[in-house]
Amino acid sequence: MITTFKKGSGLSAVLGLAIAAASHGAAADCSYSISNEWSSGYTAEITVTNDGNSTVNGWDVNWQYNSNQLTNSWNAQISGSNPYTATDMGWNGTLQPGQSVSFGFQGNKNGGSAEQPTLEGTLCDGGTSSSSASSVASSVASSEAQSSSVSSAPDGEGLQCNWYGTTYSLCSDTQSGWGYEDGESCVSRTTCESQPAPYGVVGGNNSSSESSVASSVSSSVSSSVSSSVSSSVSSSVSSSASSASSSAPDGDYVRVDNPFEGTQMYVNPMWSENAMARPGGEAIANEPSAVWMDRRGAITDGIGLKGHLDEALNQGAETFMFVVYNLPNRDCAALASNGELRISENGFQLYQDEYIAPIKEILSLPKYSDLHIVAIIEVDSLPNLVTNLDEPDCQEAAGPGGYADGIQHALNELGDLPNVYSYVDIAHSGWLGWSDNFSEAVQLIGDTVKGTEKGVDSIAGYVTNSANYTPLEEPYLPDPSLQVGGQPVRSASFYEWNPYFGELEFAQDWRDAMIQNGFPSDIGMLIDTGRNGWGGPDRPTGVSDSSDLDTYVDESRIDRRYHRGNWCNQPGGVGERPQANPAPGIDAYVWVKPQGESDGISTADFEPDPNDPAKQHDPMCGPDENNPDAGVPTGALPNAPHAGRWFPEAFDLLLDNAYPPLD
Ligand code: BGC
Repeated sequence: MITTFKKGSGLSAVLGLAIAAASHGAAADCSYSISNEWSSGYTAEITVTNDGNSTVNGWDVNWQYNSNQLTNSWNAQISGSNPYTATDMGWNGTLQPGQSVSFGFQGNKNGGSAEQPTLEGTLCDGGTSSSSASSVASSVASSEAQSSSVSSAPDGEGLQCNWYGTTYSLCSDTQSGWGYEDGESCVSRTTCESQPAPYGVVGGNNSSSESSVASSVSSSVSSSVSSSVSSSVSSSVSSSASSASSSAPDGDYVRVDNPFEGTQMYVNPMWSENAMARPGGEAIANEPSAVWMDRRGAITDGIGLKGHLDEALNQGAETFMFVVYNLPNRDCAALASNGELRISENGFQLYQDEYIAPIKEILSLPKYSDLHIVAIIEVDSLPNLVTNLDEPDCQEAAGPGGYADGIQHALNELGDLPNVYSYVDIAHSGWLGWSDNFSEAVQLIGDTVKGTEKGVDSIAGYVTNSANYTPLEEPYLPDPSLQVGGQPVRSASFYEWNPYFGELEFAQDWRDAMIQNGFPSDIGMLIDTGRNGWGGPDRPTGVSDSSDLDTYVDESRIDRRYHRGNWCNQPGGVGERPQANPAPGIDAYVWVKPQGESDGISTADFEPDPNDPAKQHDPMCGPDENNPDAGVPTGALPNAPHAGRWFPEAFDLLLDNAYPPLD
């Protein structure tokens, strides 16, 4: 269900005024709290606490609604259809005395309000249990969960299981905008028991790992997703001594230099489920990527920002990355990602009041105060003011209430929160690499940041290549000045004299230039490596021996695009996996643009996206069209949906072309 953000009712939901309802039992050992509510639905969380003296092995909770109805859940197995029974997942079934576990779910209100039902179950009557998993399984509720069907939601929406065993609604675009709308049919599964666990993941369904739960810092759920991610991210952080915990003894947050170092990052379960549903998708499905707040409604729709943050806590994640992407006149030089706000329609005020303010309210909740929250600030915006002022929308965006004002406001507000790390977007080397663009951008972007309340201290650094495809480096073209056929390599048609062939050197030089421009030497860079791998069968394996410059470059370059300005749905490959400190000056390689999400709709004859009616067809997304500036084909993949929507064929291709290759 798509809801638009409304000030007032929506805001109070955003603020997460969670109402904890203790169970009817004498001890408050099961509690139900509504974490988010919108016109048609809600998300809620149940926390089960072992308040007895002995270990509990396995638990269940039962409840009944008057009119509400569950549509999907996480971190528990749900059976029945009102009354409902939730049972542990195996890996979160063991509770030491005093330990709690939480699980969550989403539901339809069916015309009523979000209810607070009475809870019953193993631990909900104040009693303790030392029962074994098998004795719990013998209870009616639990045996249902082991053997009977997961209930089907109405309207053909099947409940699916993800690889860590929770259920979700497959055709959930109408419910939560999770994005299964393209060519995916509704599938009803009958049980979560048979789902295969992905490679290397602790737990799965009944292969419970007590240690993974026992080692959970918060004694709430330590998701198996994050356990595996933790190892993949931190393994790249060689001998980092940095502690994941950044709380001082008095609970005050201590800011760190690099919020990625030695930390476990949040895995977006919605993207993860999309990825898992594709052949071979498990190879990357448990990697962390950014959550995009690309319109006001994104703050509350589905699980919303708060739901993601809660899930991050459940995963035991320490770093959460999201994208601030809703400036008025957004995407001013293109059409594919035009946004909901216009400068001429009070956009700057709306951006402040209805976008940044509710985001800040959520991020300010005390329960998130230990998370490192990384904010990617407004992809492609200021770079458009460097090179695209011939576009009327960009001209307007260069003025009052435009991009600089919006970004300064965002940085000021987020700058009030000690645990938020803002990285301002600087496009990529194929855009700002030429020396005149580069120096103008250093000036303009530097001045914008300096104009904030905290000045140069309002950011942790800059981010390059967000949602783009530019490789980290060209392994067979290491020297842009090398002479071939009497000409420097950088003068080839493909490079057009741009001295930067890849993001790594560009990012490092940008950082140096900004330090010279007055920024502190601890600023760091991020590079989006989600789609810049350029592996697969067409990847060159060595340097060309041609003496014709263009042939030499075309046969040597790994970037297979027709033109470096081609940005829409390119046949790139998954690049370097997210990792901290991969190179000097680089805080992390991150995945900003989740693989398999479209860059823009391919056809000019399109239905508007109901979430984002301003999004249009950009000619750069037309597979049969030319890049108008370069006069070469766009190379865009066919059959693409609107920007941000799930585009499975693109995901499959990115897997095929991954570099480094996937296991
Ligand atoms: C779209 C956003 C989307 C993001 C991530 C952008 O191109 O405009 O709506 O959230 O990509 O897929």
